[in-house]
Amino acid sequence: MKLEDARVLLIGAAGGIGRYLARELLDAGARPCMVALRQEELDSLREFLGASGADACYLAADVTTETDRQACVDKMQEKFGGVDVLINLAGINAFARYEDQSPEAIERIMLVNAVAPMLMARAVLPGMLAQAGGRIVNVGSTFGSIGFSCFTAYSTSKFALRGFSQALRRELVGSGVEVTYVAPRGVETPLNPPEVYAMAREVKMAFDQPEAVAREIVDAVRKGSKEKYIGFPESLFARINGVFPGVVDNSLKKQNEVMRSYAANGGHD
Ligand SMILES: NC(=O)c1ccc[n+]([C@@H]2O[C@H](COP(=O)([O-])OP(=O)(O)OC[C@H]3O[C@@H](n4cnc5c(N)ncnc54)[C@H](OP(=O)(O)O)[C@@H]3O)[C@@H](O)[C@H]2O)c1
Repeated sequence: MKLEDARVLLIGAAGGIGRYLARELLDAGARPCMVALRQEELDSLREFLGASGADACYLAADVTTETDRQACVDKMQEKFGGVDVLINLAGINAFARYEDQSPEAIERIMLVNAVAPMLMARAVLPGMLAQAGGRIVNVGSTFGSIGFSCFTAYSTSKFALRGFSQALRRELVGSGVEVTYVAPRGVETPLNPPEVYAMAREVKMAFDQPEAVAREIVDAVRKGSKEKYIGFPESLFARINGVFPGVVDNSLKKQNEVMRSYAANGGHD
């Protein structure tokens, strides 16, 4: 799809990947509305974008609430008359032993990473169906295909998001509205606390730069990809795990011990 003039609702715009994605969208001539939780992060995004983002649309909203999701849709209607692309990029993480995570933290991960994108899609869908065109982009993770130790709640939320993306994509065939699921591997952003990077060095987990991931997301939108897995060999492991999970159980056994020890040493929620 052409991004020039496309009306894009970008949720999670002020984060590590989001700010580069916002810049890519502006450079491509799209008309994005940038949404993040905190106003001060949006102010910092505006500064980061400089002149290109001076007249763009910014909205502080908590997309786990119905009122704020509606505020996003209303803002798009008022500014641009509708939505062509919804990008569900907002997410939260926790690196912790599951037994150490509070029930509230587990619930919040599911709400932000899975339920809010489902309901955000539900909120824009009638408008997209009425115009017989649109794209819903859900940003998952490699951990949405491979369940990972000490990222249990996070993995679960991303598995849910992947399932949602697949089912909705099939349901909407022929409607003009399409669904893209993009799964990055590790990305160097504030989402991950220092313990994750320390653990990753020991287990040799690869991380990409957010600029590159933002470009991959834009590429997936332009090409109309159904699913895109970023990074090799993670993209291959994701497929192997789907067919031979026992093989992956064995290969992750040693890593599991390391991960549990780092998670116990300050993993937060
Ligand atoms: N970083 C990685 O290693 C990695 C790997 C694979 C997939 N991903 C996925 O990529 C996406 C972006 O990650 P990131 O690394 O850019 O994360 P990040 O730097 O922590 O940014 C997250 C963004 O989401 C926003 N947000 C969080 N809760 C929200 C809510 N309730 N309502 C509205 N906005 C909310 C944050 O708002 P504020 O700016 O106001 O805090 C921020 O703009 C996530 O879905 C993540 O799971 C990340």
